[in-house]
Amino acid sequence: MEVIENLLRAMTLEEKIGQLTMAARGEVFPPNEASEAEVLHGIRAGRIGSLVGTHGAEVTTRLQRVALEETRLRIPLIFGFDVMHGYRSVFPVPIGETAAFDPVLWEHTARMAAYETRAAGVTLTFAPMLDVTRDPRWGRVVESPGEDPWLGAQFARAKVRGFQGAGIGMPASVGAAVKHIGAYGAVTAGRDYASVDISDRALNEVYLPPFRAAVEAGAAVIMPSFNDLGGVPTTANVDLLRDTVRRRWGFDGVMVSDFNAVAELVKHGVVDDVAQAAALALQAGIDIDMASNAYGLGLPLALERGDVTIGMIDEAVRRVLTLKAKLGLFEHPFAPELDTAERDAKLVAARRLAREAATKSVVLLKNEAGLLPLKPGQRVALIGPVVGADGLLGAWHAAGKEVKAVSIREALHLALPPGALSFAKGVDVEGEDVSGIAEAVRIARQADVVILSLGELEGHTGEAASRARPSLPGRQRQLAEAVFEVGRPTVVLLSSGRPLTLPWLIERAQAVMVLWFLGIETGNAVTALLLGYANPTGKLPISWPRSVGQIPICYSERSTGRPFSATDMYTSGYLDTPVTPQFPFGHGLSYSRVAIRNLRATPAIVGMDDAIAVEADVSNVGVMAGEETVLLFVRDVVARIAPRVMELRGVTRISLAPNASGTVRFDLPVKSLAFPAGDLGPEVQPGEFELMVGSSAEPSALVRTRITVRG
Ligand code: GLC
Repeated sequence: MEVIENLLRAMTLEEKIGQLTMAARGEVFPPNEASEAEVLHGIRAGRIGSLVGTHGAEVTTRLQRVALEETRLRIPLIFGFDVMHGYRSVFPVPIGETAAFDPVLWEHTARMAAYETRAAGVTLTFAPMLDVTRDPRWGRVVESPGEDPWLGAQFARAKVRGFQGAGIGMPASVGAAVKHIGAYGAVTAGRDYASVDISDRALNEVYLPPFRAAVEAGAAVIMPSFNDLGGVPTTANVDLLRDTVRRRWGFDGVMVSDFNAVAELVKHGVVDDVAQAAALALQAGIDIDMASNAYGLGLPLALERGDVTIGMIDEAVRRVLTLKAKLGLFEHPFAPELDTAERDAKLVAARRLAREAATKSVVLLKNEAGLLPLKPGQRVALIGPVVGADGLLGAWHAAGKEVKAVSIREALHLALPPGALSFAKGVDVEGEDVSGIAEAVRIARQADVVILSLGELEGHTGEAASRARPSLPGRQRQLAEAVFEVGRPTVVLLSSGRPLTLPWLIERAQAVMVLWFLGIETGNAVTALLLGYANPTGKLPISWPRSVGQIPICYSERSTGRPFSATDMYTSGYLDTPVTPQFPFGHGLSYSRVAIRNLRATPAIVGMDDAIAVEADVSNVGVMAGEETVLLFVRDVVARIAPRVMELRGVTRISLAPNASGTVRFDLPVKSLAFPAGDLGPEVQPGEFELMVGSSAEPSALVRTRITVRG
């Protein structure tokens, strides 16, 4: 663009490096936060080109005016913020929303979030987070799309479409900075920021597909992860960032480091000083240094040393200025003026959408003897520490605290007849005080049914929140066991950002619902599900382990030469724990019951450029109308690289009245049967493929058929 080339020619070195510098101000990691005075001074001097953590129409407008009216070149600022699952109208956390298995919903909530975010003067969101993970010890499971790369890729496409809409310069769109490329979800022992040491094959088969999908969907920005990948910090990983992402995938957008990650190359031990850190990051293709000022402090010296060239700096500045132009900042640098009626109407629509998303994200793990939905006239004892309005929004809830969140207790109280609901907290989420258990037991004795609401705090999940024992914190187990002893039918509501290893609880509860963190409409969604006004449809996007000893655990493993057999001890299992998860990927009950049969795939013999029509008949054999999510898995029966026993390749939904039947259909392109071959390039190997359809990855519940791909 001519305007960009003219700017480049006019810029001093300091101003160029300023465009590569993102200062931290507002809701950010304390030690790196710049003061207001430092930010103002930096903007005026042309040493800051963007900010992370500043949001809100007033403050962004005020700082933008400084950039436009008090600097030599009047280049507008980018304001970046972590809008992961809603800005003010907070939706379920990503792991929860993924449980809806609903790309239309995912796009819709991102679209709504983009509208509220841009209205706050923020033009770049650091989302979606696309780190596939099979390790519930890792706190960032809560931000992830779960364990499956194909589902993660669907999530990526939907979210990038939602955030970016018809163009990132539109008044209700924002740029999507997808994160954190570099197999972050495979950190050693689930410990945040730890090393990742996996094969190139695993990197290409499991961790990169969602990011490739995001690039294909036009994601504006990519953020690498904090960790090293086989000893090479992702922030300085030329092979990954330049060779794979930029050259092979054709990504020409901006790369922004994670928070302080450029300077942390010194702590990784790969450089001596901040100038070398800046050089390594720029050489890898990092355009913007977030929060460390390593570029500001180190690039001039790196230039003097000859470790970088002015051409490399210009290349990065050109990409940043191009992003600003695409964001429309040269024409519309300020938060858009909103029509009050439109804004109020959007808030109503957002709350309705939040309730829909929350309802679809809940996973019913267990429902013995049809305890749920609750029956009219029952006396209900609501017990537990996770019932209030705080703690429902989950990690990374942006400006969600500005909006009323509906609690479970409040919504149940309104929905049940007067006097039908009693409440006792029992214990806190954390802490040793058990003095409240007696009262909890007392009201349990007087009730017909108990609802036990337990779980984690927001702070137990998200960044820097790994847990070696992902179970119930504090004395919640003591409360639960005391309540179970009373012997009333008990429903457990679990609020968590990850699967929790709770075999003792799942054994004793008659019903278990996973709420994750559902956002501002938690109470209304949960109440509708408990009372049967809504039928649960959510499914696990991540395997639910019985114990930490099983981690990492996922449904799509390779067979091995000794796959587990209950009748042969010399096979892959444990002496002290079943080899199967507590609940498999895709598990989720509803108040209906479906039967899936008569799977057929046509044509049965196909060529490389064909598509396969896969159909199955589904019947609702339950007594309630419901919607069932049906999954399609594939397996390459024989391949040079040992194939995985099954891999998700299709999701569809069918709504059925009681005793009704219907047919689900998947159009499966043969090209989607490609797996990374010997050179890791995608290749469909001729031969037999097994197709499997079912409600989850539970092998015994799948219907199967085979097709043949011709050479
Ligand atoms: C954090 C996170 C990243 C986030 C960034 C800005 O450290 O790793 O996900 O986008 O900093 O808040």
